[in-house]
Amino acid sequence: MQDSPDRSGNHQALIEDQFTQQAELFANAPALHNAAALESLVLAAAPKIPETCLDVACGPGTVVAAFSSHVQHATGLDATHAMLVQARKLSSRLRLPNVSWYLGNVGALPFANGTFDIVSCRFAFHHFERPEKAFAEMVRVCRTGGRIVVCDAVASDDPGKAKAFNDMERLRDPSTVEFRTLAFFTDLFRKYAMPLPTSSFYQMPVEMEALLKTSFPAGDDRDGVRKLLGDAIEGDCMGINLRREGETVHFDYPAAILVSTKP
Ligand SMILES: C[S@@+](CC[C@H](N)C(=O)[O-])C[C@H]1O[C@@H](n2cnc3c(N)ncnc32)[C@H](O)[C@@H]1O
Repeated sequence: MQDSPDRSGNHQALIEDQFTQQAELFANAPALHNAAALESLVLAAAPKIPETCLDVACGPGTVVAAFSSHVQHATGLDATHAMLVQARKLSSRLRLPNVSWYLGNVGALPFANGTFDIVSCRFAFHHFERPEKAFAEMVRVCRTGGRIVVCDAVASDDPGKAKAFNDMERLRDPSTVEFRTLAFFTDLFRKYAMPLPTSSFYQMPVEMEALLKTSFPAGDDRDGVRKLLGDAIEGDCMGINLRREGETVHFDYPAAILVSTKP
């Protein structure tokens, strides 16, 4: 395992603190292993042998494992050691012969220009303080003709709903910087001279108490998260299809998969 070239700053400490606590729970959260959602992401990248891929902010290695049978070699990189422990467990449990793991920061990837055919990132851009830098690094290490794949939940185009959603998410997981809008992401591709991405969408359903079991809110304020969600049900004030089903509260993370080929 390589060491990280850039792991300084308060935010990075928050990331490592949150994801060290979350690692095992996250690795076993069924919503994150949804086979159909993973297949959509992998197929959107159109992988083929003998191509190689890199998944940045790979967490417990779920996306790398999904790519591994479609490429020659699949690499995962993450800033949190505990997540890579989970990733290694997964790859040895599945006996994946063609994967490798790096500890590192997406803002300074330890790879030469044009190293990979596919560079992906799932459910992590909302944790990045410098999403432009992360995206630029993804594009840099992707070869010409290779594919960039970004998947994340997107915030509502209604600024009030987006703010309410982000306020709740920052309380639930203080390492969240911001869930961005779809327009933000498409603009990111444009800024870095990438063609307009193709996009597909799916919903990731969650039940509030199940989500809270895998969360480590600021000040352990679980009731604060419950209240923000409960108060936003009427009128779906966060734009996430909030609803009460019997005694439980449910909502859907609206996920987008964006893919573009590097010219
Ligand atoms: C919500 S998890 C997503 C994990 C995985 N991509 C998935 O979809 O299952 C976010 C991951 O981003 C990682 N992360 C956050 N900021 C990072 C950075 N600047 N560089 C590398 N990894 C980072 C965290 O350590 C964590 O594992």
